[in-house]
Amino acid sequence: MKKNMYQLIFLTVILSLFLNCGKKEEKEEATTAPETKPAVTLDPEVAKGKEIFDINCSSCHGATGAGDGVAAASLNPKPRNYKAPASEWKNGNTEAGILKTLNEGIKGSPMVAYKHLGDDSLKSLAKYVVYLTKN
Ligand code: HEC
Repeated sequence: MKKNMYQLIFLTVILSLFLNCGKKEEKEEATTAPETKPAVTLDPEVAKGKEIFDINCSSCHGATGAGDGVAAASLNPKPRNYKAPASEWKNGNTEAGILKTLNEGIKGSPMVAYKHLGDDSLKSLAKYVVYLTKN
């Protein structure tokens, strides 16, 4: 009879430990969830440029424009790292310089012209590339 009592107490202790564990995790989740930072909100035109960039350009230039896209390793010359100083750019890292690159491409390099995307898209793209030079 006494032995059964001990077993019962032992089981109750173990069970309550398990239950408390579960409760603690729930609490932690509840307090950490609201702390996740909201995504950076971009200017609408820059955001449109990002959409076009992610589809057409990131395979070579990388998602953040570091020149490290999946195709970059096999390319010569290498895709421009947008954080590189202006002196390393052929047409310059201004919106106008980038538009020239996008309209004409760079001769003798895998950087072809993207005129077919249309002026509006090229303008958004140029704004996004300028954004990536600084962010
Ligand atoms: C096939 C790979 C590839 C793709 C796709 C590509 N690029 Fe490039 N890009 C390059 C390479 C390589 C260079 C470097 C060319 C050089 O140094 O002669 C370059 C250079 C550039 C430059 C720098 C030009 C300068 O003045 O030096 C800009 C800006 C640029 N790309 C923008 C883009 C944008 C925007 C897109 C998407 C519409 C894009 N690229 C798609 C490979 C690519």
